[in-house]
Amino acid sequence: MPLPIEGFSKLSKDEKIRWIAEQYTEDPEASISLIKKYWNDDRKLQQLHDEFIENTLTNYYLPLGIAPNFLIDGELYAIPMAIEESSVVAAASKAAKFWLTRGGFKTSVLGTEKIGQVHFMYRGNKARLEKFFDAIKPKFYKETAAITKNMVARGGGIRNIELRDKTLDLKDYFQLHCSFDTLDAMGANFINSCLEQFAKTLQKEAGASTILQNTEKDIEVVMSILSNYVPQCLVRAEVSCNVDDLGSDMGVSAMEFAEKMVRAVSIANVEPHRAVTHNKGIMNGIDAVVLATGNDFRAVEAGIHAYASRQGSYKSLTQARIENGEFHFWIEIPLALGTVGGLTSLHPLVKLALEILQKPNAKQLMGIVAVAGLAQNFAAVQSLVTTGIQQGHMKMHLLNILNQMNASEGEKKQLVEYFKKHSATHHAVVEALDQLRGKS
Ligand code: MEV
Repeated sequence: MPLPIEGFSKLSKDEKIRWIAEQYTEDPEASISLIKKYWNDDRKLQQLHDEFIENTLTNYYLPLGIAPNFLIDGELYAIPMAIEESSVVAAASKAAKFWLTRGGFKTSVLGTEKIGQVHFMYRGNKARLEKFFDAIKPKFYKETAAITKNMVARGGGIRNIELRDKTLDLKDYFQLHCSFDTLDAMGANFINSCLEQFAKTLQKEAGASTILQNTEKDIEVVMSILSNYVPQCLVRAEVSCNVDDLGSDMGVSAMEFAEKMVRAVSIANVEPHRAVTHNKGIMNGIDAVVLATGNDFRAVEAGIHAYASRQGSYKSLTQARIENGEFHFWIEIPLALGTVGGLTSLHPLVKLALEILQKPNAKQLMGIVAVAGLAQNFAAVQSLVTTGIQQGHMKMHLLNILNQMNASEGEKKQLVEYFKKHSATHHAVVEALDQLRGKS
């Protein structure tokens, strides 16, 4: 069994690699050589990546692909996507092309409010706490002025600070519930710095207060942190067209197809097991663009899933309806994204992704990301209610299976051709390759 280690972070990169390889892998020399194979020859670039996190050993590749032909609010975009799942970029591209000739995608940002909270315990008279809060409120703004100066100059900053009584949920629990506008920055550091100053101000002012009684002055701050639940930082993306324009090349009539789409979404609205998978398909598109643009996909995931549960049960993030002969399909999601700060100016591929997207501001990026989610869902549900998902999925997964079986370039070429006309299950691919290799 490996032994615990003291001071791992202080070892050199080579020492860390040797230690991990020797302690935890069967063939240390092979592991070391694999780890180093993924180093970048450009030493400066490698150092940049090394310094993103602690204890970096090497780089972990994900493919960065492009889904072209997205018509969004009248502009044509090619969307960069970082994702490992074989069929996602192809599905996004297919949906983009489909809607390109049907009016494209429209987006609107419904709000940009970010939230942060100071959670604290107060054991005293509530009316006096309220009076104290009203008296010291201007000090929260004043004592964060150095932090907020630049943001305020650009038009953002602290929007509101509210005292919330949460004692019905938890004894003695109160909050400063604060809202912010962080413009084109995701704003996590800005918000957290403001909140930590609010907490200090709160405690200092309580100690010196003439409103609170002596026994009430010891306010216990539990924590100060932004919330990744941002239901007022909301974006909508939609497509619509005449039902007849949906076409009938999906094996069913246009109206039948539209009705099946609406029914599929209705099922995801009432059945959480389906809703989770339905929304997972949406996140295939969202995460891929969020990652490619250097944003925090964990924050986005957590916030979006909470939003999907806002009515008390987990529901679909997309909606569909047929009205007056028109098919409407839309998504509404909270998204706290940045196009400045963080990785956006550090990671060369993130910079490139943002350049490909025509250097969007945060609101425009919200729209693009929402479109990627909507497109992904359209493509997935379109397949599900017509051909089934495996046909397209296995076509894209075919190369993965062939690579797993060490197929040569010639074998891949022949089998890709063969499976254009045959259905590609894992078993069928193995059999076809065996046959090609002359095995029975
Ligand atoms: C697979 O990654 C995503 C789907 O399962 C989404 C869905 O079922 O809607 C195809």
